[in-house]
Amino acid sequence: MGADDELYGRADPQYLDAVYTDQALMTQTKPVQGQADSFVWSSSSSMPSVMADMIEELQISPGMAVLESGTGTGYNAAILCHLLGDSAVTTTEIDPELRLTALERLAELGYHPSTAPQPRSYDRILSTHAVAKIPYEWITWSKPGAILLTDLRPPANSQVGAWVKLTIDEDGRGATGRLMPPRGYFMSARKVPEYAEIGHTLPELTLDEHQRRAELIETRAVRAQPEILNDQAFGLYCWRSNPNVWSWFHDGEITLSTADGSWAQVRGQTVSLIGERDLWAEVEHTYQDWQAAGWPPITDWTVRVTPDGSTVVVLPG
Ligand SMILES: C[S@@+](CC[C@H](N)C(=O)[O-])C[C@H]1O[C@@H](n2cnc3c(N)ncnc32)[C@H](O)[C@@H]1O
Repeated sequence: MGADDELYGRADPQYLDAVYTDQALMTQTKPVQGQADSFVWSSSSSMPSVMADMIEELQISPGMAVLESGTGTGYNAAILCHLLGDSAVTTTEIDPELRLTALERLAELGYHPSTAPQPRSYDRILSTHAVAKIPYEWITWSKPGAILLTDLRPPANSQVGAWVKLTIDEDGRGATGRLMPPRGYFMSARKVPEYAEIGHTLPELTLDEHQRRAELIETRAVRAQPEILNDQAFGLYCWRSNPNVWSWFHDGEITLSTADGSWAQVRGQTVSLIGERDLWAEVEHTYQDWQAAGWPPITDWTVRVTPDGSTVVVLPG
C-alpha cells in the first residue's frame, strides 16, 4: 500500500517509486483475534529515513555482527547485508509467510542472512517492531557491551512511546540505558503470526446489552484538558503508572479502556464514562503527580533490564 492508500503490486509502474519514497508502506493485514471480519495492518516496510536513523544511532560499521528483529519485507535486512556482509546479519520474523518471502527476495540479491540467533553473538540488536518489555533473549544473544535499540511502547500499537537505547552489562546479564524521543513509530510485536496486534476489545455484546450499556453512560466536565496526553513523556508516565489501561487517540478524541470493561471517552471539555473506574480521573491524578515530579523529560529517564528479565523504567530523583 503506497501513497494516498493506493495498492501496488510488483508489476505496477508505480511500485518502485513507492518503494523508494520516504514513507512507511503497509504490506500485510491479518485478522483480529475473535473478530474474523476485522483486518488490521500487521506488517509494513519502514520509512527508509527511519531505518537510516536507527543504523546511524547504533553506529553500525563493518566488522560488527547485527541482529534485526522484524524482517518484514527484508528491506532493512538488505541494507544491513550490504553494509556488513550477509554472514554478519541475522534477521528474525514471527510470520513464516513473510519470513519466506523476504528470504527469497534477499536471495535474489545474493544475500543469505541467518534467521537463527546465537547466544552472545551480536554487537548490535535493533527491532523494527515495538515492544512493551525488552525480550530477555535479546540480552542473552548480545555480547557484553553490545548496544540494543528498540521502540518501547504499550502493547497494541499505542501512540505513546519512546525509543530506548541500552548497553549490555559487562557480565552479560542485564542492560542499562536511556529513553529518547521516538524518531519513528513502529507497530507492536505480535504474539502469534496468525493475528494482528490490537488493544483489548470490550466483550462481544448483544444489541440489548449495547443498549443497556449506552444507558449506563455518565458524563462530567474534565478537570484536566485532553491535550495533556499529547505529551509523550506524560503518556509514558501514565502507562508506567497504570499499565493495564489501554489508550487510543482518534480524531481529537481519547478513548481509555480496561479489560474488565471500564471505559472513558474524552472529547473537548467532556468525558463520557462507563464502568467501575473513572479512568480519566486516574489520568488527572497521575497528571498531578507528574507536575509534582517537575515534568521530567523522556531523556532524563533511565531504563534497566534486570537479570530476572524485568524492564524497569526509572524517573530521575
Ligand atoms: C515494521 S515491520 C518490519 C519492517 C522491516 N524491517 C522492513 O525493512 O520492511 C515489523 C515486522 O515485525 C514483525 N514482528 C512482529 N512481532 C514480531 C516478533 N515478536 N518477532 C519477530 N518479528 C516480529 C512483523 O510481522 C512485521 O513484519
